[in-house]
Amino acid sequence: MGRKKSILIIGASGQIGTELVMELRRQYGNKYVVASDLKTASQEVLESGPFEQLDVLDRDKLHEIVVKYNVDQVYLLAALLSAMAEQKIMQAWNLNMYGLFYVLELAKEGFIDKVYWPSSIAVFGPNTPKSDTPQTTITEPVTVYGISKLAGEQWCSYYHQKFGVDVRSLRYPGLIGYKSAPGGGTTDYAVDIFHKAVAGVPFECYLEKHTRLPMMYMPDAIKATLQLMEAPAEQVKLRVGYNVAAFSFTPEELAMEIRKHIPGFTINYNPDFRQRVADGWPSSIDDTCARKDWGWKNDYSFEYMVQDMLEHLSEVVT
Ligand code: NAD
Ligand code: SER
Repeated sequence: MGRKKSILIIGASGQIGTELVMELRRQYGNKYVVASDLKTASQEVLESGPFEQLDVLDRDKLHEIVVKYNVDQVYLLAALLSAMAEQKIMQAWNLNMYGLFYVLELAKEGFIDKVYWPSSIAVFGPNTPKSDTPQTTITEPVTVYGISKLAGEQWCSYYHQKFGVDVRSLRYPGLIGYKSAPGGGTTDYAVDIFHKAVAGVPFECYLEKHTRLPMMYMPDAIKATLQLMEAPAEQVKLRVGYNVAAFSFTPEELAMEIRKHIPGFTINYNPDFRQRVADGWPSSIDDTCARKDWGWKNDYSFEYMVQDMLEHLSEVVT
């Protein structure tokens, strides 16, 4: 169906944005999907549709772009992720909070109709039940990133209740994809390991071997995002982040699965500060609410993800 207005993605040059922009362009038409970021984008993104250099904290420029392209939907992906945020506390808080405020304010003032803002499993903390973590439970994060995501969820809910802003959110687990590099998270090891495996070099893991975390293959993350954004408003019963899940594994299990395809692959463990971050997160997620409310269902298994990652990255290497 044709669009008259545009969709703006902020933080479009990152791990999720690179893939989300291309899928949105495929579905809605290249010229209606405006990519924006502090840094430039991939050739594919630059050549297929509009791109604007934008610092989301530049409120005037954000407003100008929304008006210039007649934007009715914003996907706000710009953030500092968990590992980076532990190193740059104030910068992370500023970006993760004020970027969201500026977009929510534009929606409140009637410039945009719908907002997508991703949350994370980082809203949970060490006191949260670790396994099959429910949608509503103890949320006492002990990381800068987690605190910003929890606060962000509450602001989304507030703007929805008080001003009727149509803002939607998912608590992504760690995301794994071959098209773009991850940007400073604690789950990045689960992408980096594949690059080392196909290059035929050993992998040094910054998490210890038994650290089990929830993860998802990128096509499922993109599907969940678009499904939530397309769902009729009455089905979106939660205006905090929805739990979404696919599979969980430890570094040791991932290395074993990779070895089924690359028998000589080796891994060693040298945990650093990211171990503490990972130790505070769930090992698996209960996503019943997303399944019931708007029909979420993952397509990709752990085994399929490993095979597909290795196949695609091997094509690049050879
Ligand atoms: P990323 O770090 O790969 O990408 C973020 C992008 O934002 C980068 O391209 C960066 O240049 C851009 N950016 C940074 N500061 C900016 C600014 N001031 N103005 C405009 N752009 C700016 O992150 P990602 O993995 O693509 O994550 C996107 C969102 O999804 C984030 O909110 C993140 O917290 C959330 N999330 C990601 C994961 C994951 O595993 N990737 C998991 C849970 C939640
Ligand atoms: N994958 C993200 C991170 O590690 C979770 O939000 O920061």
